[in-house]
Amino acid sequence: MLKNTALCVLLLALIVLCGAAVKNKKDKTVIKPTSTSAANTPSSGWFTGPQSPSGDDEIREICENVEDFVVNIRRELHKFPELMYKEIKTSAYIQEVLTDLDVQFSPGWGLNTKTDRITGHGGTGIVAQIGTGSSPVVLLRADIDALPITEEIASNIKSQNEGRMHACGHDGHTAMLLGAAKVLKGMEGSFEGTVKLMFQPAEEGGAGGKRMVEEGVLLDSPKVDLAFGIHLWPALPSGTVGGKPGVVLAACDRFEILISGVGGHAAMPHLVVDPVVAQASIISSLQTIVSRKLSPLESGVVSVTKIEGGSAFNVIPGAVTMWGTVRSLTDEALRKLMGSVEDITKGIAETHGCNATVRWSPDYYPPTVNDDELWFNLGEKVASKVADSGAITPTNPTMGAEDFGFIAQSVPSNFYLLGQSSSTVKTDWNLHHPKFTMDETVLKRGVELHVRSALDGLAMLAKNKKSEF
Ligand SMILES: *[C@@H]1O[C@H](CO)[C@@H](O)[C@H](O)[C@H]1NC(C)=O
Repeated sequence: MLKNTALCVLLLALIVLCGAAVKNKKDKTVIKPTSTSAANTPSSGWFTGPQSPSGDDEIREICENVEDFVVNIRRELHKFPELMYKEIKTSAYIQEVLTDLDVQFSPGWGLNTKTDRITGHGGTGIVAQIGTGSSPVVLLRADIDALPITEEIASNIKSQNEGRMHACGHDGHTAMLLGAAKVLKGMEGSFEGTVKLMFQPAEEGGAGGKRMVEEGVLLDSPKVDLAFGIHLWPALPSGTVGGKPGVVLAACDRFEILISGVGGHAAMPHLVVDPVVAQASIISSLQTIVSRKLSPLESGVVSVTKIEGGSAFNVIPGAVTMWGTVRSLTDEALRKLMGSVEDITKGIAETHGCNATVRWSPDYYPPTVNDDELWFNLGEKVASKVADSGAITPTNPTMGAEDFGFIAQSVPSNFYLLGQSSSTVKTDWNLHHPKFTMDETVLKRGVELHVRSALDGLAMLAKNKKSEF
């Protein structure tokens, strides 16, 4: 393999000397001597000029060579987690890295248009571009926001923002995409078309991805043809890549239910209209939706996750509020769950003499669906190349939901689950857990997933385009 690399470098030098553009036999991409990108790339040894995305071993090696770069970024991001639509420092940091890499980008994406329901201005999203600036176009996406969780693991990279934590791996997602930016920038000139890099705010329920789709991230010239995303996945061992064709993640919405009655003295319940008892009955009855309303062959979740009301042991409150989520694998089933939540809530509230209002989120999340054709032609193959075993790990769909669903709705897309549970470090705390820990050794594999998806995707698109004539 070393011999191959040496030969390749020699060949490239010859090509540059001749100043001619030639065809690379292996993958038929045109190699052109490019401008100054080599000079601007920090000298990390491996970079000797425009690289061609030729051998599989070379791509692995090039991706492994950015490991330190990626791990350092992840650690830096982990220290200052920021909540949805407030990712100001995070966005500035990403822009700084892209500037250092000499990668072109536009900031200001993902403005929060639902400020009446969600705080924060947004505009923290970034779209970067590498390649010719024209079609075909592959989009790679990462999310950048953190969660309102207090980190419970002591380490030298522990969150410095009290009550905020990167507990869903978005620090790793962002770092992997910046790693891919570095690798692809180093290859610029050796592939046809454009890679768009999407850094989106507010994945954790704020629909930042949808905002960016509305703002034109997919349709703005050059138009996106294919899209790819990755989630670090503690349920799978490190070294594996999981996925499946079709639905991978659920459709999801969240509710806020206000039950109002008439408050008063706890000693005289006959003089009040008690919303607490109504709420208890509603919570129990909501559990019958999945068992009695949904077909046993369909999947669904109805969870009440937060309740609030009252101020003293001897006062019956005038109103109580509760929040929760409904999830299913299809839009139809989700609508059925939502309808049942409203019916049961209103009916039971009325029985108790209370009034209930049910509010849903401003943007429900659609299911995330892996395009079958893209999966079999590309996604599964790419994932198999990256996985240690040489094969994809088939997974069941999960009831987690993803903003990536908005992208997958609009262009053929594939979403990978990157295993990150290690036997040597305790890294299998689940996502959103205050002890969630990342196995940083898999980040380089995430870079490789991105890079291969982009290069193979562009090559496939170019080939399809030619065969149209
Ligand atoms: C319920 O709403 C009706 C109509 O707005 C109102 O007349 C009634 O007082 C409300 N009842 C409670 C318990 O809030």
